[in-house]
This record gives sequence, C-alpha cells and structure tokens, in this order.
Amino acid sequence: MESAKQKIVIAIDGHSSCGKSTFAKAIAARLGYIFIDTGAMYRAVTLCALEAGAIRDGEVDAERVVGLLPQINISFRFNAERGASDVYVNGQCVEPRIRSIEVSSAVSRISSIPAVREKLVAMQQQMGRDRGVVMDGRDIGTVVFPDAELKIFMTADAEVRARRRYDELTAKGDKVTLEEILENVIARDKADMEREISPLRRAADAVVLDNSRMTVEEQMEWFMERYRQIVG
Ligand code: DC
Repeated sequence: MESAKQKIVIAIDGHSSCGKSTFAKAIAARLGYIFIDTGAMYRAVTLCALEAGAIRDGEVDAERVVGLLPQINISFRFNAERGASDVYVNGQCVEPRIRSIEVSSAVSRISSIPAVREKLVAMQQQMGRDRGVVMDGRDIGTVVFPDAELKIFMTADAEVRARRRYDELTAKGDKVTLEEILENVIARDKADMEREISPLRRAADAVVLDNSRMTVEEQMEWFMERYRQIVG
C-alpha cells in the first residue's frame, strides 16, 4: 500500500470492454484508493427507468426519466467478497441486475440525457472531492475531473475486446456468437464517441494504454511507472 503519499485523482476513460474496471480495481487495491465505477451509476438509473416503465420496447421517455431522478438515491458499499463496491439504489443492492442485457441495451440512451449526466457528474465530483479515488468511465478526465493528476485513456483492438467478452460470457453459459459481440462492441464505441453530450474522447493530457497485447501484470507495471513520476 502506498496510501501515506499525496492522494491524487486517477481518471480512467476509454472504450467499452477493454478491462477498465479490472484495471481500476487493481490500482485502487494497490494504492488503498476508492474505486468508483461510474458506468454502474448510469446502469442503476437505467434499471430504475426500466422498472418504472419509462423505457418500453426500446423507446425511452426522457421526460419521465428526468422526473424519476429526484427519487433515485445511488450509493456504493464495499463488498469484501468481490473486492469492489456494489451499487445500491435507495438502500437496495442492484448488482448484478444492472449487468443484464436489458440494461446494457438501454444504457447508452439513458446516459445521453443531459439531466441524468448532470446529476451523476455532480455526485462523482462529490465522491472524489478528497482525492484518493480511481474513477473509470467515459468523461472522467474531460468533464468530471479535468484537473485529475493522472489521466489514462484505455483502448484495445475491437477484435481483442470482442474475444475477451465472448470468453467471459460463454464461461458464464451465455449463448452468444463472436460476430454479434464484435458488432455490439463496435456499435457501443460509435454511440459513446458520437453522442452530443460528453462524448468519449481522449483528454489532451491523457496517456494512452493500449492493452491489446498486455497482461494485467504488465499493465500494472506500466501504471506504477507513471504513478511514481507524479507522486514520487
Ligand atoms: O462502463 P460501462 O459499460 O458499464 O458503462 C455503461 C454505459 O454508461 C456505457 O454505455 C457508457 C455510459 N457511461 C457514460 O456515458 N459515462 C460514464 N462516465 C460511464 C459510463
């Protein structure tokens, strides 16, 4: 643990399915930092919208979603078994429901509603106000913490990302094809990068980590070198 040193904000943005959460979680454990998975927050709002009937047949009623926001109270609680925090909505744990295919298919549209982003960005800024956080998402280095001391933009070849997701899902027993996963990966990249509000882009001062051909250990080594350059 290196927690006695100056605490900083580590912003990790990048494409979907390139191992951002795994990487961020490992860094947080190594440094004694808090890990915040901001995608889980967008997923939690999406789950609430689905349950309230504000998304029907794939159609999002944005006005209704905005109306639900004041009643959605999101928090994180550490789960020692997972070595990460679970997401709670109004005191109720919503893991693993936020990882369902229904939520995954609707989350892009929910995360492009300006009022949703406004609420979640404000919460994220509050969570990181004392520094000592590793936050992963799409707009952390550009919008949430433009002053983050260390910004990492993660990517990997689309084929490599699709293969990793495919292996993960088939190991869980899901019946999927590599082709449909690759299509989904490409579609999500496009949606994240082309949306009007806070699109995914590399902050000018972010360092790029392409982990297509790197092990988790190699990524950690790469990270510690950059971290030490900043913190000493
Ligand atoms: O990281 P993830 O796949 O769990 O994220 C779910 C969705 O939320 C993804 O479609 C992009 C969106 N998202 C976002 O718009 N901004 C963030 N900071 C994090 C996620």
